[in-house]
Amino acid sequence: MGMENAEFRYLVVERDEEGIAVLRLNRPEARNALNLELIAELGRAADMLARDDTVRAVIVTGGEEVFAAGGDIKEMAGKYAPDMLNAYGADLSGFEKIERIPKPVIAAVSGYALGGGCELALVCDMIVASETAVFGMPEITLGIIPGAGGTQRLPRLVGPHRAKEMIFTGSFFDVHACREMGLVNSVVPVERLMEEAKELARRCIRNGAVALACAKACVNEGMNTDLYTGLAYERKCFSLLFSTEDQKEGMQAFIEKRKPAFKGR
Ligand code: HXC
Repeated sequence: MGMENAEFRYLVVERDEEGIAVLRLNRPEARNALNLELIAELGRAADMLARDDTVRAVIVTGGEEVFAAGGDIKEMAGKYAPDMLNAYGADLSGFEKIERIPKPVIAAVSGYALGGGCELALVCDMIVASETAVFGMPEITLGIIPGAGGTQRLPRLVGPHRAKEMIFTGSFFDVHACREMGLVNSVVPVERLMEEAKELARRCIRNGAVALACAKACVNEGMNTDLYTGLAYERKCFSLLFSTEDQKEGMQAFIEKRKPAFKGR
Protein backbone atom coordinates (compact mmCIF):
# COMPACT_ATOMS: atom_id res chain seq x y z
CA MET A 1 0.00 0.00 0.00
CA GLY A 2 1.23 3.51 -0.80
CA MET A 3 2.33 5.99 1.81
CA GLU A 4 2.13 9.27 -0.03
CA ASN A 5 -1.06 10.40 1.70
CA ALA A 6 0.81 12.89 3.85
CA GLU A 7 0.87 15.33 0.95
CA PHE A 8 -2.94 15.27 0.51
CA ARG A 9 -5.58 16.74 2.72
CA TYR A 10 -8.68 15.56 0.86
CA LEU A 11 -7.44 12.47 -0.98
CA VAL A 12 -6.38 9.01 0.07
CA VAL A 13 -4.11 7.20 -2.39
CA GLU A 14 -3.43 3.49 -2.02
CA ARG A 15 -1.41 1.23 -4.27
CA ASP A 16 -1.51 -2.56 -4.17
CA GLU A 17 0.91 -5.24 -5.33
CA GLU A 18 -1.17 -5.88 -8.48
CA GLY A 19 -0.38 -2.37 -9.70
CA ILE A 20 -3.89 -1.00 -9.14
CA ALA A 21 -3.97 2.38 -7.41
CA VAL A 22 -7.09 3.63 -5.66
CA LEU A 23 -7.63 7.38 -5.53
CA ARG A 24 -10.35 8.12 -2.98
CA LEU A 25 -11.94 11.50 -2.39
CA ASN A 26 -12.08 12.07 1.33
CA ARG A 27 -14.10 15.12 2.31
CA PRO A 28 -17.13 13.41 3.86
CA GLU A 29 -18.34 16.47 5.80
CA ALA A 30 -19.11 18.17 2.47
CA ARG A 31 -20.23 15.11 0.46
CA ASN A 32 -16.81 15.18 -1.25
CA ALA A 33 -17.58 18.60 -2.74
CA LEU A 34 -14.70 19.65 -4.98
CA ASN A 35 -13.09 22.81 -3.67
CA LEU A 36 -10.04 24.35 -5.32
CA GLU A 37 -7.66 22.58 -3.00
CA LEU A 38 -9.20 19.17 -3.72
CA ILE A 39 -9.13 19.80 -7.49
CA ALA A 40 -5.46 20.82 -7.25
CA GLU A 41 -4.74 17.66 -5.26
CA LEU A 42 -6.42 15.59 -7.99
CA GLY A 43 -4.00 17.10 -10.50
CA ARG A 44 -0.99 16.36 -8.32
CA ALA A 45 -2.16 12.80 -7.69
CA ALA A 46 -2.72 12.31 -11.43
CA ASP A 47 0.85 13.45 -12.18
CA MET A 48 2.20 11.13 -9.52
CA LEU A 49 0.23 8.09 -10.70
CA ALA A 50 1.03 8.78 -14.37
CA ARG A 51 4.78 8.77 -13.64
CA ASP A 52 4.79 5.75 -11.31
CA ASP A 53 5.73 2.67 -13.37
CA THR A 54 4.48 0.33 -10.65
CA VAL A 55 0.97 1.69 -11.18
CA ARG A 56 -0.79 -0.06 -14.07
CA ALA A 57 -4.36 1.17 -13.56
CA VAL A 58 -6.20 3.69 -11.41
CA ILE A 59 -9.59 3.55 -9.71
CA VAL A 60 -11.18 6.87 -8.75
CA THR A 61 -13.83 6.61 -6.05
CA GLY A 62 -15.59 8.56 -3.33
CA GLY A 63 -16.30 5.53 -1.14
CA GLU A 64 -19.66 3.84 -0.59
CA GLU A 65 -21.73 6.84 0.54
CA VAL A 66 -21.17 9.47 -2.12
CA PHE A 67 -18.94 9.91 -5.15
CA ALA A 68 -18.91 13.72 -5.17
CA ALA A 69 -21.65 16.37 -4.81
CA GLY A 70 -19.97 18.68 -7.34
CA GLY A 71 -18.04 21.90 -7.12
CA ASP A 72 -17.98 23.50 -3.68
CA ILE A 73 -21.02 25.79 -3.77
CA LYS A 74 -20.00 27.59 -0.56
CA GLU A 75 -16.58 28.37 -2.02
CA MET A 76 -18.03 29.55 -5.35
CA ALA A 77 -21.04 31.51 -4.06
CA GLY A 78 -19.33 34.91 -3.69
CA LYS A 79 -17.04 34.66 -6.71
CA TYR A 80 -17.20 36.80 -9.86
CA ALA A 81 -16.25 35.98 -13.42
CA PRO A 82 -12.55 36.97 -13.17
CA ASP A 83 -12.12 34.79 -10.06
CA MET A 84 -13.63 31.85 -11.88
CA LEU A 85 -11.58 32.41 -15.04
CA ASN A 86 -8.35 32.67 -13.09
CA ALA A 87 -8.72 30.17 -10.27
CA TYR A 88 -11.07 27.48 -11.53
CA GLY A 89 -10.06 27.93 -15.15
CA ALA A 90 -6.47 27.08 -14.31
CA ASP A 91 -7.14 24.42 -11.72
CA LEU A 92 -9.66 22.46 -13.73
CA SER A 93 -6.66 21.10 -15.58
CA GLY A 94 -6.62 18.67 -12.63
CA PHE A 95 -9.50 16.91 -14.38
CA GLU A 96 -7.62 16.84 -17.69
CA LYS A 97 -4.57 15.39 -15.96
CA ILE A 98 -6.70 12.48 -14.83
CA GLU A 99 -8.04 12.03 -18.34
CA ARG A 100 -4.47 11.98 -19.68
CA ILE A 101 -3.04 9.36 -17.31
CA PRO A 102 -1.72 6.89 -19.94
CA LYS A 103 -3.25 3.91 -18.12
CA PRO A 104 -6.79 2.64 -17.64
CA VAL A 105 -8.67 4.87 -15.18
CA ILE A 106 -11.95 3.52 -13.81
CA ALA A 107 -14.49 5.52 -11.82
CA ALA A 108 -16.16 3.47 -9.07
CA VAL A 109 -19.30 5.47 -8.32
CA SER A 110 -21.64 4.96 -5.38
CA GLY A 111 -24.22 7.52 -4.28
CA TYR A 112 -24.37 11.00 -5.78
CA ALA A 113 -22.15 11.98 -8.71
CA LEU A 114 -23.44 15.49 -9.37
CA GLY A 115 -22.13 18.43 -11.35
CA GLY A 116 -18.35 18.48 -11.03
CA GLY A 117 -18.63 15.00 -9.46
CA CYS A 118 -20.32 13.67 -12.59
CA GLU A 119 -17.71 15.51 -14.67
CA LEU A 120 -14.95 13.82 -12.69
CA ALA A 121 -16.46 10.43 -13.53
CA LEU A 122 -16.59 11.52 -17.19
CA VAL A 123 -12.81 12.04 -17.41
CA CYS A 124 -12.34 8.40 -16.41
CA ASP A 125 -12.13 5.74 -19.12
CA MET A 126 -14.98 3.64 -17.77
CA ILE A 127 -17.58 3.93 -15.02
CA VAL A 128 -18.55 1.09 -12.71
CA ALA A 129 -21.49 2.04 -10.48
CA SER A 130 -23.30 0.70 -7.45
CA GLU A 131 -27.08 0.29 -7.34
CA THR A 132 -27.24 3.47 -5.24
CA ALA A 133 -25.43 5.64 -7.79
CA VAL A 134 -27.24 8.78 -8.96
CA PHE A 135 -25.91 11.05 -11.70
CA GLY A 136 -26.94 14.57 -12.52
CA MET A 137 -25.90 18.03 -13.68
CA PRO A 138 -27.78 20.32 -11.25
CA GLU A 139 -25.76 23.44 -12.14
CA ILE A 140 -28.69 25.00 -14.02
CA THR A 141 -30.67 25.03 -10.75
CA LEU A 142 -27.90 27.23 -9.29
CA GLY A 143 -27.99 29.68 -12.18
CA ILE A 144 -24.87 28.34 -13.85
CA ILE A 145 -23.94 25.55 -16.27
CA PRO A 146 -21.49 22.64 -16.02
CA GLY A 147 -17.96 24.03 -16.07
CA ALA A 148 -15.62 21.05 -16.04
CA GLY A 149 -16.51 19.37 -19.31
CA GLY A 150 -20.15 18.47 -18.74
CA THR A 151 -21.45 20.24 -21.84
CA GLN A 152 -18.67 18.69 -23.92
CA ARG A 153 -17.89 15.17 -22.66
CA LEU A 154 -21.46 14.18 -21.73
CA PRO A 155 -22.96 14.70 -25.22
CA ARG A 156 -19.98 12.92 -26.79
CA LEU A 157 -20.69 9.95 -24.53
CA VAL A 158 -24.50 9.70 -24.44
CA GLY A 159 -25.53 11.89 -27.40
CA PRO A 160 -26.72 15.50 -27.40
CA HIS A 161 -30.42 14.88 -26.69
CA ARG A 162 -29.88 12.90 -23.51
CA ALA A 163 -27.11 15.26 -22.40
CA LYS A 164 -29.38 18.27 -22.94
CA GLU A 165 -32.17 16.65 -20.91
CA MET A 166 -29.75 16.18 -18.02
CA ILE A 167 -28.18 19.64 -18.32
CA PHE A 168 -31.36 21.69 -19.06
CA THR A 169 -33.53 20.09 -16.34
CA GLY A 170 -30.90 19.57 -13.65
CA SER A 171 -32.76 16.33 -12.78
CA PHE A 172 -31.05 13.37 -11.15
CA PHE A 173 -30.90 10.05 -13.02
CA ASP A 174 -30.79 6.68 -11.30
CA VAL A 175 -28.14 4.15 -12.17
CA HIS A 176 -30.40 2.08 -14.41
CA ALA A 177 -31.29 5.08 -16.57
CA CYS A 178 -27.57 5.86 -16.75
CA ARG A 179 -26.74 2.29 -17.76
CA GLU A 180 -29.35 2.49 -20.50
CA MET A 181 -27.92 5.74 -21.90
CA GLY A 182 -24.40 4.31 -21.96
CA LEU A 183 -22.99 6.51 -19.20
CA VAL A 184 -22.26 3.54 -16.95
CA ASN A 185 -20.45 0.33 -17.93
CA SER A 186 -21.86 -1.94 -15.23
CA VAL A 187 -24.05 -1.88 -12.12
CA VAL A 188 -23.36 -3.96 -9.01
CA PRO A 189 -24.47 -4.05 -5.37
CA VAL A 190 -22.57 -1.48 -3.33
CA GLU A 191 -20.55 -4.09 -1.42
CA ARG A 192 -19.24 -5.46 -4.72
CA LEU A 193 -18.30 -2.07 -6.20
CA MET A 194 -14.56 -1.98 -5.52
CA GLU A 195 -14.08 -5.64 -6.44
CA GLU A 196 -15.95 -5.09 -9.72
CA ALA A 197 -13.77 -2.06 -10.50
CA LYS A 198 -10.61 -4.02 -9.65
CA GLU A 199 -11.73 -6.95 -11.77
CA LEU A 200 -12.27 -4.64 -14.74
CA ALA A 201 -8.83 -3.12 -14.10
CA ARG A 202 -7.28 -6.62 -13.99
CA ARG A 203 -8.91 -7.56 -17.30
CA CYS A 204 -7.22 -4.50 -18.82
CA ILE A 205 -3.76 -4.71 -17.26
CA ARG A 206 -3.15 -8.34 -18.13
CA ASN A 207 -2.52 -6.77 -21.56
CA GLY A 208 0.63 -4.82 -22.41
CA ALA A 209 1.03 -1.35 -20.90
CA VAL A 210 2.31 0.26 -24.11
CA ALA A 211 -0.59 -1.07 -26.17
CA LEU A 212 -3.02 0.08 -23.48
CA ALA A 213 -1.53 3.57 -23.48
CA CYS A 214 -1.76 3.72 -27.29
CA ALA A 215 -5.33 2.41 -27.28
CA LYS A 216 -6.35 5.07 -24.76
CA ALA A 217 -4.61 7.86 -26.67
CA CYS A 218 -6.20 6.77 -29.96
CA VAL A 219 -9.74 6.69 -28.56
CA ASN A 220 -9.32 10.01 -26.72
CA GLU A 221 -7.62 11.81 -29.62
CA GLY A 222 -10.10 10.32 -32.06
CA MET A 223 -13.10 11.59 -30.06
CA ASN A 224 -11.68 15.10 -30.48
CA THR A 225 -11.01 15.08 -34.18
CA ASP A 226 -12.41 14.08 -37.55
CA LEU A 227 -12.42 10.45 -38.70
CA TYR A 228 -9.50 10.67 -41.12
CA THR A 229 -7.23 12.51 -38.67
CA GLY A 230 -8.13 9.89 -36.08
CA LEU A 231 -7.46 7.05 -38.51
CA ALA A 232 -4.03 8.51 -39.36
CA TYR A 233 -3.21 8.74 -35.66
CA GLU A 234 -4.36 5.16 -35.14
CA ARG A 235 -2.27 3.94 -38.07
CA LYS A 236 0.87 5.51 -36.57
CA CYS A 237 0.26 4.06 -33.12
CA PHE A 238 -0.62 0.67 -34.60
CA SER A 239 2.58 0.60 -36.65
CA LEU A 240 4.78 1.86 -33.79
CA LEU A 241 3.61 -0.99 -31.58
CA PHE A 242 5.53 -3.32 -33.92
CA SER A 243 8.69 -1.87 -32.38
CA THR A 244 7.77 -3.23 -28.93
CA GLU A 245 8.85 -6.48 -27.29
CA ASP A 246 5.23 -6.97 -26.24
CA GLN A 247 4.09 -7.26 -29.88
CA LYS A 248 6.72 -9.92 -30.58
CA GLU A 249 5.80 -11.75 -27.38
CA GLY A 250 2.04 -11.46 -27.95
CA MET A 251 2.15 -12.88 -31.44
CA GLN A 252 4.75 -15.54 -30.60
CA ALA A 253 2.64 -16.67 -27.63
CA PHE A 254 -0.39 -17.03 -29.91
CA ILE A 255 1.59 -19.14 -32.37
CA GLU A 256 3.01 -21.30 -29.55
CA LYS A 257 -0.49 -21.63 -28.02
CA ARG A 258 0.56 -20.18 -24.64
CA LYS A 259 -0.27 -17.12 -22.57
CA PRO A 260 1.87 -14.06 -23.32
CA ALA A 261 4.18 -12.59 -20.66
CA PHE A 262 4.03 -8.86 -21.38
CA LYS A 263 6.72 -6.54 -20.04
CA GLY A 264 5.27 -3.17 -20.97
CA ARG A 265 8.03 -2.36 -23.45
C1 HXC B 1 -20.59 22.58 -0.84
C2 HXC B 1 -21.91 20.86 -0.13
C3 HXC B 1 -22.15 20.45 -1.46
C4 HXC B 1 -21.54 21.21 -2.50
C5 HXC B 1 -23.21 19.12 -0.14
N1 HXC B 1 -22.57 20.00 0.64
N2 HXC B 1 -22.97 19.37 -1.43
N3 HXC B 1 -21.14 21.91 0.16
N4 HXC B 1 -20.77 22.26 -2.13
N5 HXC B 1 -21.67 20.88 -3.78
C6 HXC B 1 -22.62 20.09 2.11
C7 HXC B 1 -23.95 20.61 2.59
O1 HXC B 1 -23.99 22.02 2.54
C8 HXC B 1 -23.98 20.07 4.00
O2 HXC B 1 -23.17 20.89 4.81
C9 HXC B 1 -23.29 18.71 3.87
O3 HXC B 1 -22.51 18.81 2.67
C10 HXC B 1 -24.27 17.58 3.71
O4 HXC B 1 -25.14 17.89 2.64
P1 HXC B 1 -26.74 17.67 2.73
O5 HXC B 1 -27.36 18.45 1.65
O6 HXC B 1 -27.20 17.88 4.11
O7 HXC B 1 -26.81 16.09 2.41
P2 HXC B 1 -27.99 15.26 1.72
O8 HXC B 1 -29.34 15.69 2.27
O9 HXC B 1 -27.57 13.85 1.84
O10 HXC B 1 -27.98 15.69 0.19
C11 HXC B 1 -26.87 15.38 -0.65
C12 HXC B 1 -26.94 16.15 -1.98
C13 HXC B 1 -27.09 17.66 -1.69
C14 HXC B 1 -28.13 15.69 -2.82
C15 HXC B 1 -25.64 15.82 -2.70
O11 HXC B 1 -26.11 18.04 -0.74
C16 HXC B 1 -26.92 18.52 -2.90
O12 HXC B 1 -27.85 18.69 -3.69
N6 HXC B 1 -25.74 19.11 -3.06
C17 HXC B 1 -25.44 20.07 -4.13
C18 HXC B 1 -25.36 19.37 -5.47
C19 HXC B 1 -25.05 20.37 -6.59
O13 HXC B 1 -25.85 21.29 -6.84
N7 HXC B 1 -23.91 20.19 -7.26
C20 HXC B 1 -23.47 21.10 -8.35
C21 HXC B 1 -22.49 22.08 -7.78
S1 HXC B 1 -21.92 23.22 -9.05
P3 HXC B 1 -23.60 21.31 6.31
O14 HXC B 1 -22.57 22.31 6.69
O15 HXC B 1 -25.01 21.83 6.22
O16 HXC B 1 -23.49 20.00 7.05
C22 HXC B 1 -20.73 22.36 -9.87
C23 HXC B 1 -19.93 23.10 -10.90
C24 HXC B 1 -18.49 22.79 -10.65
O17 HXC B 1 -20.52 21.22 -9.65
C25 HXC B 1 -17.56 23.00 -11.78
C26 HXC B 1 -16.12 22.89 -11.32
C27 HXC B 1 -15.75 21.66 -10.55
